[in-house]
Amino acid sequence: MIICKTTQEIRDLEANLTFGKKLIGFVPTMGALHKGHISLLKESKKSCDITICSVFVNPNQFNDKGDLARYPRTPEADIKMLEEAGCDIVFMPSIEEIYPKTDTRVFDFGAIDKVLDGAYRPGHFNGVAQVVSRLFDIIKPHKAFFGLKDYQQVLIIKKMVEQLQLKVEIVACPILREADGLAMSSRNTLLDAEERKAASLIPKLMQEAKTLSTTMSLPDVKNKLLAEISANPLLKADYIEFCNADTLQPITEIKPGKKVICLAAIYSGKIRLIDNLFIN
Ligand code: PAJ
Repeated sequence: MIICKTTQEIRDLEANLTFGKKLIGFVPTMGALHKGHISLLKESKKSCDITICSVFVNPNQFNDKGDLARYPRTPEADIKMLEEAGCDIVFMPSIEEIYPKTDTRVFDFGAIDKVLDGAYRPGHFNGVAQVVSRLFDIIKPHKAFFGLKDYQQVLIIKKMVEQLQLKVEIVACPILREADGLAMSSRNTLLDAEERKAASLIPKLMQEAKTLSTTMSLPDVKNKLLAEISANPLLKADYIEFCNADTLQPITEIKPGKKVICLAAIYSGKIRLIDNLFIN
């Protein structure tokens, strides 16, 4: 595995990589890698000749500076995991390398970033679009792999690719979960034992949303789930919402032919976790 720290090193490799029309697969990450990240890498390896993974904690997407300071950083363990999983190239740039000057671009994603995490984390998706477009520009991948755990992020990236008319295929991959159902996340390592136990309620709530929605109205389901969250002193909901899976606009009833997804952002202690589940 080749480790690159600068754009120039990637550019130098690029001449060889594109030689012979090799298919480049790209997996952007913020590190503190787990099996969820590795599943994206494996997906890339299945269909691409060369797989490049980036590890970069992007300050521009953190609206909460405490969250940025707390974010886990495990570069050595990341390199080991990537090597074992058969990653070809890892790109671990400095902040200056990604942002030689301040990125002032403002994206307009319309209605899809005014809701959910877009509403609760102002500027977050603009920062995601800044870094991902910059990384695409450096790596020039044919395919890029994203996890459905960050469902809204996948829609934002697809919209950005469309708006910037980029020639990269966005591949959305399933959510990997722990044995008790909790969606794998770098932030899970920040939970203490009690918070971890409380967090295991989150995937159960998603399953409950799916089951109850067959017999109860969506607003009633939502209220029941919010009450269950309030009953646990360690949990606090930013939101739990039923949405049209294409537009992400909140809905109150399931209409035939429309895909519905339940999305949640819930704090366990100080740690904010997100999850989602298709309910039809
Ligand atoms: P990060 O949270 O490190 O996630 C990197 C990728 O791994 C994302 O596409 C995310 O959806 C995926 N992922 C995380 N947990 C997963 C799980 N349990 N199952 C499947 N996939 C999972 O998302 C980001 O970083 C950043 O916003 C980034 C796109 C790198 C831009 O900075």
